[in-house]
Amino acid sequence: MKRLFHLIILLFTVSNAIAQVISIIPKPAELSVKSGTFLLNSECSLQFDAANEEVVRIADFFNDYLQNMYGYKIEEHSEGRAIHLKISSRVKLGKEGYVLKVEQNSIAITASEPNGLFYGVQSLKHLLPIEAKDGELKIPCLDIEDQPRFKWRGNMLDVSRHFFPVSFIKKYIDILAMYKINTFQMHLTDDQGWRIEIEKYPLLTEKGAWRVGTGEEAWNPFVGPAIKGKPKYGGFYSQEEIKEIVQYAKDRFITVVPEIEMPAHSRSAHDTYPAELSCTGEPYLVFNMPDSITSDFEIPLLCAGKEETFLFLENVLEEVIELFPSEYIHIGGDEALKTRWEKCPACNKRMQDEGFNNTQELQSYFIKRIEKYVNSKGRKIIGWDEILEGGLAPNAAVMSWRGTEGGIAAAKANHKVVMSPTTHCYLDYHQFQHEKNAYPAVGSFLPVEKVYSYEPIPEELSEKEATYILGVQTNLWTEYVATTKHAEYMLLPRLQAQAEVAWTKKGLKEFSDFEKRLESDYQRLEKMGINFGDHRR
Ligand code: ACM
Ligand code: ZN
Repeated sequence: MKRLFHLIILLFTVSNAIAQVISIIPKPAELSVKSGTFLLNSECSLQFDAANEEVVRIADFFNDYLQNMYGYKIEEHSEGRAIHLKISSRVKLGKEGYVLKVEQNSIAITASEPNGLFYGVQSLKHLLPIEAKDGELKIPCLDIEDQPRFKWRGNMLDVSRHFFPVSFIKKYIDILAMYKINTFQMHLTDDQGWRIEIEKYPLLTEKGAWRVGTGEEAWNPFVGPAIKGKPKYGGFYSQEEIKEIVQYAKDRFITVVPEIEMPAHSRSAHDTYPAELSCTGEPYLVFNMPDSITSDFEIPLLCAGKEETFLFLENVLEEVIELFPSEYIHIGGDEALKTRWEKCPACNKRMQDEGFNNTQELQSYFIKRIEKYVNSKGRKIIGWDEILEGGLAPNAAVMSWRGTEGGIAAAKANHKVVMSPTTHCYLDYHQFQHEKNAYPAVGSFLPVEKVYSYEPIPEELSEKEATYILGVQTNLWTEYVATTKHAEYMLLPRLQAQAEVAWTKKGLKEFSDFEKRLESDYQRLEKMGINFGDHRR
């Protein structure tokens, strides 16, 4: 009896030790641990199809990771214990699924598409100990069969309120890829800056990309030394840089979705082309306040009565569509207070001509016209849930942010939906209670546990309606996020929590287990020089 007790204790200890090693985030669909380990050292070899460009790139990524983390690469196609990367149509786990088998003498990652192979490699990276011992890395033998729950696993970065350089955007994309996020939305335009070069309208970036002031503006004290005291703040991405970002993301199986805001959040456009775009024809300067909404005086809308507005937007979108190959183009659509339109003769004439009873219908007209243009280019629009008001455009997808009601209504009307409610997905909120009074952030409080607890399929939906939920997205608005370090801090570890919401089967999620896996994730982030908000503090 005593012996049996000792055996149980021993097994418990061993399984605990192994459980600590298996710290893949997001948690795989099926995982079984076997006995034994694979020893990864510089004598191992990497085997893959050298004729497949995408597979070669994935192999290179893995070797680069070994070099950066452990200081060595492994030989390609040499003798010795091998890591095999294979594409095989026999794996039936969808485009993003993969099989990972670790045995004592070999590791094999197999997938039907390069996407799945890439995700298998991400999982393998999470299986490696943080430190090598004498150049050796022990990997537990195991079998994994994995595929994502949702198709849209997204994150948005607001590059308008604060501008982030291309080098950081690449680091950010690398972080997203580590957790199998596949969609990166760039919030490229807003009241505080226009961030993408448009060749037809050079003033958008010559002028619209810059906040100009004395350095003592109200927003400055909040955002810290990065921009405090600078009379001019801003920046933009040239079209060449945008192409570089899109390709960098594509190589990591991430689609970049561009967001061009309309009809509100558009002061940076009004600053440059007021006569064409504003109801009043008066200029509004690029905004110097951190938050967009202060009073309706400060919120110009793009005029829905003037034909010039639509010509401008179509010209802008034409260049945007050329640069971003994404299925969806995000057209904003949020927070348009309609006071300006109510007072504008051109907008009123449009309403009369079209027989509209209210400005909601005018907004719907606006979005439908834009949708028609985007559809004519073979793309679809997605917008914040306000685009439901006054009637949803026929093929539009909805990003539900003011709660879940918009998403529920859209799914019930057979429209695609991405869930992104403020309550669980807004990373501009404080993540720690003790920081609430320490420095400003937008909104309230969103700890990692709450992000983790999110269930993207609302109970109100039938099984069929639920199929319209494409997935889930977190949003990092940067009104009060001025530095790259702070952006990383706000992103992590809430991104990991969302990644698990988006990828892992509902029944497998458990916060305490996730927290254990975060322990080694934190160590890895530290070693990689990535900042995070340590939730244990
Ligand atoms: C939003 O947060 N205004 C979409
Ligand atoms: Zn107008």
